[in-house]
Amino acid sequence: EKKKTLCGKRFVVTAGATIEAIDPVRYISNHSSGKMGYAIAGELAARGAEVTLVTGRTALPTPAGVTRCDVLSAEEMYRAATAAFDRADGAVMCAAVADYTPETCADRKLKKGDGELTIRLRRTKDIAAELGSRKGGRVLVGFALETDDEEAHAREKLRRKHFDFVVLNSLRDAGAGFRGDTNKVTFVSESGNEPLPLLAKREVAARIADKIETLINE
Ligand code: PMT
Repeated sequence: EKKKTLCGKRFVVTAGATIEAIDPVRYISNHSSGKMGYAIAGELAARGAEVTLVTGRTALPTPAGVTRCDVLSAEEMYRAATAAFDRADGAVMCAAVADYTPETCADRKLKKGDGELTIRLRRTKDIAAELGSRKGGRVLVGFALETDDEEAHAREKLRRKHFDFVVLNSLRDAGAGFRGDTNKVTFVSESGNEPLPLLAKREVAARIADKIETLINE
């Protein structure tokens, strides 16, 4: 039983991958399993917070005490997350959201021909950047998933999206990122970098919750 240190606080957590339909059969997505985001939602709820988990499709059970809102596309995640943020004290943006979506979704299955097929994509809305612009004094935690120039990219996201801190994970680190039960992250903020060792996602979630508590009590 955890200490109820976040009683009366409300958080939005996004988790998992979005799904962008090409036609009724096919879609564009990514490798996020939802494990990292679900661990964060569960940890915040265990500390007494009211948590809305806006989640892409996953194979995971809903963490105890968490209100779950299932979505598919980046557009649906945008609507659910912005609505829930209206009455929240903070948000943790852990979802891997598609940056591009097919310009149109065919209403019938696309038939194959002999040649190449081109699918035009348009930009999706940046959910984190939108919450950042509405943030006020609330807490906003972002993630950055990088493959190169990790810190520079994380710092650019920190500033542009108005995050209090960024949880940086790199696909160059073994045991970090998608699908597994561990992650290796660095907290990146205006006050510097805080690298953590390889930890269970459950433990990374606890460290993130500790940092959120510090920010809220400041
Ligand atoms: O789900 P798992 O299998 O456990 O894997 C965990 C994870 C690797 C998905 C997670 O640790 C992680 O890094 N999540 C963020 C992945 C990502 O999309 O990062 P990004 O660098 O592209 O995005 C930067 C930030 O903006 C993120 O907080 C992201 O949620 C947010 N974003 C991005 C695009 C968009 N349209 N809307 C957003 O809110």
